Amino acid sequence: MSIETLRAKASNTGPALFFPDPEVPAIYNFDQGLAAPETYPVADLTRLARQVLNAAGPSVLDYFDPDVGYEELIFGYRGLRARIAERTRQMQGRDFGHAGVILTSGSVQGLALAMAGYVDPGDVVIAEASSFPYALRYATMQGGEVRTLTVDDNGMVVEDLEGLIAQVKAEGKRVKMVYTIPTFQTPTGTEMSVPRRKMLVEAAKKHDFIIIEDAVYSDLRFSGEPLPSLLSLDDSGRVIQCGSFSKMVAPALRMGWFIGDLKAIEPLAVMRQDLGVAQWIARVMADFMDEGLLEPHLARVCQVYGHKANIAAKALREHCGDFVRFRMPQGSFYIWVEIDDRVDWDTAAARAAKEGIFFRPGERFAGVQDDRKFLRLSYGHVSEKIIAEGIARLGAILHECVRKAA
Ligand SMILES: Cc1ncc(COP(=O)(O)O)c(C=O)c1O
Repeated sequence: MSIETLRAKASNTGPALFFPDPEVPAIYNFDQGLAAPETYPVADLTRLARQVLNAAGPSVLDYFDPDVGYEELIFGYRGLRARIAERTRQMQGRDFGHAGVILTSGSVQGLALAMAGYVDPGDVVIAEASSFPYALRYATMQGGEVRTLTVDDNGMVVEDLEGLIAQVKAEGKRVKMVYTIPTFQTPTGTEMSVPRRKMLVEAAKKHDFIIIEDAVYSDLRFSGEPLPSLLSLDDSGRVIQCGSFSKMVAPALRMGWFIGDLKAIEPLAVMRQDLGVAQWIARVMADFMDEGLLEPHLARVCQVYGHKANIAAKALREHCGDFVRFRMPQGSFYIWVEIDDRVDWDTAAARAAKEGIFFRPGERFAGVQDDRKFLRLSYGHVSEKIIAEGIARLGAILHECVRKAA
C-alpha cells in the first residue's frame, strides 16, 4: 500500500501544490499579488518590535497574556482588536467594539474559518464569476457548492441574484452565503455600485444568508470617491467583513481580521483550534496604529500604486493597442486584461513565458469557465522600469502572434 491511499479525498483535489519552475528566470514578474516592498515600513517595524518587548517583557512571547485569559488566545490581542474596531467606527460608522473583532493569520485564515463556521455540505455559496480562488476552494472543501454571478463595470450583477436564489431553491438547496469583494474586486478591479450594495444587503435579510465582505483592498484607493461598505449599510448583523495588513502594510505580518456582530463572528472563533495569532506582531501593529503611522503610510502607498497604475495603463495603450481591453483601476494594484480574439493566445502566452514575462492566467480565478482570455497583471511589487519594459515586450509578442495567426 502506498501512502497516497491514506490521503483524505479533499487532499486529492484542488490546484497543484507547486507549479513547475519557469524555464527562464521571471524577469517581468506580474504574477503574485504583492504589496510594494519599497513601501514596507522597515525602520518603524524594527523599532516597534523592540519597543513592545521592552515594554511588556517576555509575556508577549507567551500564547496569551494570562491577565486577559483565553479570550486573547481565541480572538487575539484585545488592544489591536480595539484599534481596528475604532478605525471601523470612524471610517464605516459601525461600532462593534473589540468584542466584534477576531484576529486571524492573514485574512485568508479568516476566510477558511468563515467557510468552516457557516458552510455545511450541500450549502450553496454565491461569488463573483471570477474571484479569489482560495475563498472558493475553502467553500468547496467544506462540501459547499459555488454558484456565480457575472461581473460588469459596476461589480457583481446583483440584479440576477433573485433568479439564482429561486433556481437554487427549486433544486432543493439553500443559499447560505454570498462571498464578495465589492471594492477593487479580485481579479477584475471593479467596484460594486451603491444601489447594488444596498440590494445585496436587503437580499441577505429577505433570504436569510450571510455576506462575507472581503475588504482587503478597500484602503488602497488612489482615485474616485470611497463607496459605503456592505458592513456600513447593514443593520441586520448578516454582514461580516475581513481586512488585513498584508496589502496595506506587508504580507509577512500575517495579520488579518474579521469584524462584525459578535454573534456573527462567533462561528469563526468556535472553528479556531490553532492557539491564535502571533501576540508579538499583534502588539507591534497596535502600536503602529497608536502612533498614528497607519494613515500616512496608506496615503504614501496609494500614491505609489496610482503612479504604477498609470505607467501600466500607458504601456498597455501604447504597446498592446486594441489587442487588449481593460478598465483603469481606481485602487489596488492589478489590471485585468482581456485579450482580443485576433491574438493566438496559446502561442503568445508560451512566447511570453519563454521571455520571462509572468502573469496570472484568467482561468485561475474562474468560478465558471469562460471562452474569453484574460490575464491579471499585478504590478504592485514591480519597479516602474520593469512594468514599462515588460508590457512593451508583451505588446510586441501580441502583434507578432496576430500576424502569424492571420
Ligand atoms: C481578495 C483577497 N482576499 C484575501 C487575500 C488574503 O490575503 P492575506 O491572507 O495575506 O490577508 C487576498 C490575497 O491575495 C486577496 O486577493
